[in-house]
Amino acid sequence: MIVVYDSLTGQTKRFASKLGYEAVHVKLYEDVNNDNQIFLVTRSINFGQIPETTKTFLNLHKDKVIGVAVSGNKNWGENFGMAGIKIEKEYKIPLVLKFEGSGFPSDVEYVKKWIKNYL
Ligand SMILES: Cc1cc2nc3c(=O)[nH]c(=O)nc-3n(C[C@H](O)[C@H](O)[C@H](O)COP(=O)(O)O)c2cc1C
Repeated sequence: MIVVYDSLTGQTKRFASKLGYEAVHVKLYEDVNNDNQIFLVTRSINFGQIPETTKTFLNLHKDKVIGVAVSGNKNWGENFGMAGIKIEKEYKIPLVLKFEGSGFPSDVEYVKKWIKNYL
């Protein structure tokens, strides 16, 4: 199990690093470890869009991604965490949680439990 994150200003990276697994940036992920299971942590940009870097990663590795958690900001209203809804729909990957910024401790615990349960 490895955590892969897509982060521009560091919030998503901070959340990803609290999950208790090795965490690597989407652009640095290489399929060298034969990781069969990847948990993705990404963010929403520009009115609920999936970042291009995340799309590039998913187009290569979506079959190994067990779930996704998405960082966002509730100020974006109905577009809060919308990238997660889109990933679930377009790539058939379960959306585990939408969280704000780098998440509350309860958000981290929720995702940790979900991963443990899955594994
Ligand atoms: C240009 C811009 C567009 C954003 N659009 C959305 C959005 O549509 N929905 C949302 O929930 N958050 C949106 N956000 C908030 C970011 O997803 C949020 O700040 C996230 O924590 C950033 O992650 P990072 O620090 O790992 O880059 C936007 C932020 C920026 C700067």
